[in-house]
Amino acid sequence: MSKIQSVRGTKDYFFEDQAKFSQIVAKAKQVSERFGYNETAIPIFEFTEVFKRSLGDLSEIVNKEMYTFEDRKGQSLTLRPEFTAGVMRAIISNGLYNKLPLKLLSWGPLFRYERPQRGRMRQFHQINCEYVGSSSPFADSEVISLANMILEELGFGGKFSLEINTLGDKESRKKYYEILSEYYNKYRNDLSEYSKLRLENNPLRILDSKEAEDIKINQTAPSMLDYLTTESKKHFDRVLSQLERMQIRYNINKNIVRGLDYYSHTTFEFITKELGSQGALIAGGRYDGLMAMMGGKDCPGVGFAGGIERMVELYSYQRKEERLVSVIALNEDFYDKAYEIAHHLRKTSVNVEVEHSTNLSKALKKALERNAKYAIFIGEEEINSGKLKIKNLHSRNETKLNLEELINIVKNDEF
Ligand code: HAM
Repeated sequence: MSKIQSVRGTKDYFFEDQAKFSQIVAKAKQVSERFGYNETAIPIFEFTEVFKRSLGDLSEIVNKEMYTFEDRKGQSLTLRPEFTAGVMRAIISNGLYNKLPLKLLSWGPLFRYERPQRGRMRQFHQINCEYVGSSSPFADSEVISLANMILEELGFGGKFSLEINTLGDKESRKKYYEILSEYYNKYRNDLSEYSKLRLENNPLRILDSKEAEDIKINQTAPSMLDYLTTESKKHFDRVLSQLERMQIRYNINKNIVRGLDYYSHTTFEFITKELGSQGALIAGGRYDGLMAMMGGKDCPGVGFAGGIERMVELYSYQRKEERLVSVIALNEDFYDKAYEIAHHLRKTSVNVEVEHSTNLSKALKKALERNAKYAIFIGEEEINSGKLKIKNLHSRNETKLNLEELINIVKNDEF
């Protein structure tokens, strides 16, 4: 029988990696609260239609990356490949229109059948923020400033840049599509196979192609910025000037067109050069037509998602100062006393381990490995006298105390 293995493109989290993961999520929650976000949890699977209608039939995700299956009733369900569509579905199904504008933060696992490589998994995790119900350019700049603040406060300052673009409104895009198709048609035979296909259904996506032959052609491609309607240009200029007021540096990058069909106006990516080819830490943009596309009311929105796996790679673990206590029984007969003491200490919120070794130096080594601050020793003498020996493993001070004194000293971290 073959060995049971993990599925390609998935990862188990333990120890420091899991601690980094939790600290990143905690930081995102803490910062987003300052902006008025509410944490929201939505299901991991949805009816397939939720993603088909929103991301677009031609998007890479819907085309070839979704984990879709039929349940026992023959209904087509899909493991969520992203949050935005699910969050919109949740607003529609719960009739939350009267609560708009809404600021919602979600985090958790997502699933895409991609070719696994560094920073690209089949099960990965995102922190996702959506600001739904405002069409103001100040909503765009506020959302971008939130993303920027999360990255700064995770300690990534100086390691990332903000790349920003606009896809304008429908009218701007229609005009630009025509111009762009005309341009690429001139180079039809020189484009990559991937881009030849895109030319038929979405020429915009050729702009973010990573194929060498396309990159060359893209250098002289017309820019969306030259085809914006007055309104779209005004919106984008406001976003940029507000970013400048907040001293958030950006580069305008016409190739940030995003892979999903629902975007309009502002699109952005926070990119790092430190993670190889999968350098987008956070990506997002405005999606004004999305809710209506999904059968809901016409309601604007803007948001972003950050890849937690990529952030874990870049993040330096912040070791928590813990007052871990190791209780060391010097004989198996004293285990009952050791567990009794551990119980009383834990009730005062102190972290306690009972070392299962009667060999003192082995037990101490284990306590040091666990980064314990205090060791409490229980031997014949301690049991008879009722005074327990406690040692501060950092300062090496030691003393003997009764249980009550000992609990107080550890609880208040005074020794
Ligand atoms: P996305 O660009 O598909 O956008 O993903 C956002 C981020 O998730 C990426 O920048 C990356 O950090 C991470 N990510 C994506 N795919 C993978 C993967 N296979 N493995 C590891 N990390 C990955 C969205 O998902 C949009 N829903 C973002 C959004 C929210 N737009 C508006 N609101």
